[in-house]
Amino acid sequence: MKKFPDGFYWGAASASYQVEGGIENTDWAKAARDGRVPECGRACEHYTRYEADFDIAKSLGHNAHRFSVEWARIEPEAGQFDMAAIAHYRQVLEALHARGLTPFITLWHFTLPLWFSESGGFERKDAPEIFARYCAFVVKELGDLCGHFSTINEPSVYGSNGWLRGSWPPFKRFSLTDLVAITNSGRSYESRADKSASNLFLWWRVMKNLAKSHNAAYLAIKKVRPNADVNFVHHVIVFDANKNPFRKLAAYIANQSWTHLFMRRTAGHYDTIGLNYYFYTQFGDKRKWRKTDMDWNFAPEKIYDALMILKRYKRPIVICEAGVADADDSDRAEYIEKQVRATWQAIQDGVDVRGHIYWSLLDNYEWALGFEKRFGLVEINYETMERTIRPSAYVYKKICEQNGMLE
Ligand code: FCB
Repeated sequence: MKKFPDGFYWGAASASYQVEGGIENTDWAKAARDGRVPECGRACEHYTRYEADFDIAKSLGHNAHRFSVEWARIEPEAGQFDMAAIAHYRQVLEALHARGLTPFITLWHFTLPLWFSESGGFERKDAPEIFARYCAFVVKELGDLCGHFSTINEPSVYGSNGWLRGSWPPFKRFSLTDLVAITNSGRSYESRADKSASNLFLWWRVMKNLAKSHNAAYLAIKKVRPNADVNFVHHVIVFDANKNPFRKLAAYIANQSWTHLFMRRTAGHYDTIGLNYYFYTQFGDKRKWRKTDMDWNFAPEKIYDALMILKRYKRPIVICEAGVADADDSDRAEYIEKQVRATWQAIQDGVDVRGHIYWSLLDNYEWALGFEKRFGLVEINYETMERTIRPSAYVYKKICEQNGMLE
């Protein structure tokens, strides 16, 4: 039996904009109105159906749940906080506790309130203060019901899609090279991006500002709730190389700039580390990889390498997202089992992993790709909003309930 440590967190994740529905005052909603990304509309109507959805999570053996609160609902105008939105998220937290699900809150998962994005967003010099004010407010209001907070979801993805690739708001593209394409294979939504060489410098500034924003938020949160567990959630791509020394150097540089730079810029400002793992890529790879529905290499076992990449930071790690788009559910169970096995192996090899949170509980709005990709343990019929549990969800359930795997 491959047993996990006692108290290990098992569950699934979501993000507000992708599931709640009815959010119109964000940069993404505006981009949809402008025809640059697909409409999100009512999404999964999770905003009103969350209790039934948590019933499903509980029935599937989960003991934890990661979700995000929507900044644009909570602070719809600069400095003005909406207590009705807070009251809603308090009910969400109560509903999780009532079902024995430990909550993990993400404070910001990609979508920005319009007032902030239209005034420059994370290009603004004062973004760290603005972000820290918002984060501290939420943690002050919700921290009695939740002990785990992530400030930023996937800074490297946000920065590269927004300022290098130009596929996400604010659609700025660095046009001299398609170097970054490798990190984005599969997300090929055609957008009318603004192409300019200066976007490279802007990207660099935004990445620094995101690190400063996280650090400021960390300190502000610690002032109001010193005991809260605070991290950010890092998307780790495993860049590998064949034996060629130049390719090895390229992989080293890629890992440094994608993962380690942000870790260094935030040193001393996280209690744990959130890990999202989806990609393994090898420079000079001759293998023909089996692909997921996202056209990503089917490499669940390489989560081991992602965990090893983070081991040096000597903090407990929570896997906050790991999952596969698989519309017919033919590969998901295998994906989950291989990934859980590799996580177990990493624990044996000295990594302090505290939880495994699958992406995602429900099918949802997959950003610039709309609703076509299906990551859910639970299938959504977008016409009727009916929920159907997929067979693979029961394979995961067994793992959650046994706190491990038989072999
Ligand atoms: C991650 C995002 C998440 C989801 C998955 C598939 O990069 O954090 O919202 O879109 O990819």
